[in-house]
Amino acid sequence: MPMNYTVFKGRRVLVTGDTGFKGSWLCEWLLNLGAEVSGFSLPPEPDAPLFDQLRLRDRIAHHDGDIRELDAVQSVLEAEKPEVVMHLAAQSLVRESYVQPKYTFDTNVGGSVNLLEAIRLCPDVKALIFVTTDKCYRNKEWDWGYRENDELGGHDPYSASKAAAEIVFEGYQKSFWAGRSDFGAASARAGNVIGGGDWSKDRIVPDCVRAFMAREDAVVRNPLSVRPWQHVLEPLSGYLLLAQRLLGGDENACGAWNFGPDNEDVRPVRELAFQAAASWGGARVVEKVDPNAPHEAQLLTLSSEKAKRKLDWRARWDFNTAVDKTLSWYKLVAEGVDPQTVTSQQINGYMADGN
Ligand SMILES: NC(=O)c1ccc[n+]([C@@H]2O[C@H](COP(=O)([O-])OP(=O)(O)OC[C@H]3O[C@@H](n4cnc5c(N)ncnc54)[C@H](O)[C@@H]3O)[C@@H](O)[C@H]2O)c1
Repeated sequence: MPMNYTVFKGRRVLVTGDTGFKGSWLCEWLLNLGAEVSGFSLPPEPDAPLFDQLRLRDRIAHHDGDIRELDAVQSVLEAEKPEVVMHLAAQSLVRESYVQPKYTFDTNVGGSVNLLEAIRLCPDVKALIFVTTDKCYRNKEWDWGYRENDELGGHDPYSASKAAAEIVFEGYQKSFWAGRSDFGAASARAGNVIGGGDWSKDRIVPDCVRAFMAREDAVVRNPLSVRPWQHVLEPLSGYLLLAQRLLGGDENACGAWNFGPDNEDVRPVRELAFQAAASWGGARVVEKVDPNAPHEAQLLTLSSEKAKRKLDWRARWDFNTAVDKTLSWYKLVAEGVDPQTVTSQQINGYMADGN
């Protein structure tokens, strides 16, 4: 069954983590498809302005709140009565998880429990997309991609919290939702996303863009780490496809799914930084390995064979295209083009490339 975007027209969709990088892109895409979008998350960080740049506070029903509070989560579901919930709220940074391990576990595990519990008690919800990460797999520094049935685990608190969230999700799925025809839930594990409007600290593209704009050398601290890079629209297209299948009552869409790039687009951080500098034009990158940096996996790849075979999902933009689209977003916005126009045009371009 191909992607049918019309299924979202008039649908009530709640996005947790709507003030974040991926959440903001997802809200823009859902609005573009005619969905009635609501959101729940902490207010946008002052240094992460995409939500405000897209003027989402005026265009969706956003609720400020902390997912660690069950009452707050339940109130939003009662108020918005969503048919689809897309759960993206998380403490999403590996380095920050070393600084704030308890907060990371409380948000990513405890917050996820709160959401699952609220959904269990909310009859309006028909489909849940539960977003975790490629880092939920126990990393064995393998050359080949992790598959959905590989062992879960995590060395750093972020990865461990996402593996734990996956186990909690499976518990709810098996205990309360198996065999239900009026509700379906899927978990989605994506690669390292890049795209315009990400300003997170300790992520390679935002770090590079900040340096390029200041006409300084961009510093790469893990040049040899290999990651499955993909444009942010790639995993979002997977989440939308899963939601479409679940709304259509497809039981086979329940469970876990990987949405990663093709193998040739799994590249070292160094290559991404140099490609970004070339795409920006006239920018420089220097490598400075920090011997005291906390542990991060060196090699991480993801197998998306299941999504390709069973959902007919495909990555549409290769590595070079993803980097060019990302850097052109930042350049156009720096030149004064309206961020919402750039974002919306890239979403339309992505959808056209899939036809
Ligand atoms: N960016 C990536 O490369 C990547 C890769 C794989 C998976 N993911 C996952 O995708 C999701 C979105 O990632 P992102 O890059 O947009 O992250 P982000 O850090 O930009 O956004 C995180 C969102 O979660 C919200 N949030 C954080 N703590 C909260 C709390 N206690 N209560 C309520 N809301 C809270 C924030 O307000 C924000 O809206 C996350 O679950 C992340 O783990 C991201």
